[in-house]
Amino acid sequence: MKTLNIVLIGFGAVGRGFLALMAKRHAYFQERYKLDLKLIGVATARRGALFCPSGLDWAALSALGDKPLSAYPDQAHLLRDLEPLVMLSRPAVDVVIELTPTTYENNAEPAMSHVRAALAAGKHVITANKGPLALAYPDLIAQAEHRNVFLGYEGTVMGGTPVLRMARKLLAGCQIMAVRGILNGTTNFILTEMERGVSYAEALRTAQARGYAEADPTNDVEGFDAAGKLIILAHVVFGKALRMAEIERRGIAGLTTEDIRAAQAQGERWKLIAEASLSPEGRLSASVRPTRVPLSDPLASVGGGMNALTYQTDLIGAVTLIGAGAGGEATAYALLSDLIELAEGL
Ligand code: HSE
Repeated sequence: MKTLNIVLIGFGAVGRGFLALMAKRHAYFQERYKLDLKLIGVATARRGALFCPSGLDWAALSALGDKPLSAYPDQAHLLRDLEPLVMLSRPAVDVVIELTPTTYENNAEPAMSHVRAALAAGKHVITANKGPLALAYPDLIAQAEHRNVFLGYEGTVMGGTPVLRMARKLLAGCQIMAVRGILNGTTNFILTEMERGVSYAEALRTAQARGYAEADPTNDVEGFDAAGKLIILAHVVFGKALRMAEIERRGIAGLTTEDIRAAQAQGERWKLIAEASLSPEGRLSASVRPTRVPLSDPLASVGGGMNALTYQTDLIGAVTLIGAGAGGEATAYALLSDLIELAEGL
């Protein structure tokens, strides 16, 4: 049996979802992969930290809910209040799971420093945080390769739905010329609720309560979140760098209930569509904007917090993946799938 010692940096909806999944899948990992996943640390910005090389108790940690980590019961060799950068570089740590809130300002800090420091310390890194990958994908991939460690980021695009793995592995041999989809659960949820007559503000509150929305929902409703995901897709799918400023971006904040009704009356739906395509000369163009789609379009039927992405390929035409793109437990599945890929490569 091989043991992988994990620390979580950040402990919000996805971190709690990860604990819940691990409680369900821990025995399966031991049996199927001869791998013992051990949580040895959790560090947060405002709720304190816990570190214990002999392992933290999943159930006791889950039971804390939103309480400060200081409420976790005492145990032998438990250290409290280690700074994230100190914790992640401790020798006992094998895998750093970075889950602090995404930001594109301040060079995606503090997540960027966490990821870079962990890679520099020779730790495997898994993250659902879009900021570092959207801003520094080539650098981080090169740093991971240089240190010969695993960098997993499946959860950055479409949460737990394996859309990146599909492009990286399952569509190998196909050339993908375009991607088009719904990459933000919060806005899709809001638009779907507004079609039912619910107000914009109320729908946003529900999306936040369900753990779909970013810490600052401006990133969702103004299209930055979908644009960040498009940048990561551009690297993975096209091997091309794309900057936020190069994406034609418009959010849903300007849409009114009249707009929603007018589309409905004509058999159409508003969706926040993110798309990127390569011209025959290899030039990439990308946009995120509210778009009226006919009900015959597969993307029109994608409701609530769900996401979808169509890959336009040369050999098999269009391939569409529809699934949960946000939410704590669904996104936590992406972490688990990265852990499986890491374990298979060990
Ligand atoms: N705020 C994001 C969304 C979460 O609503 O899709 C997943 O990236």
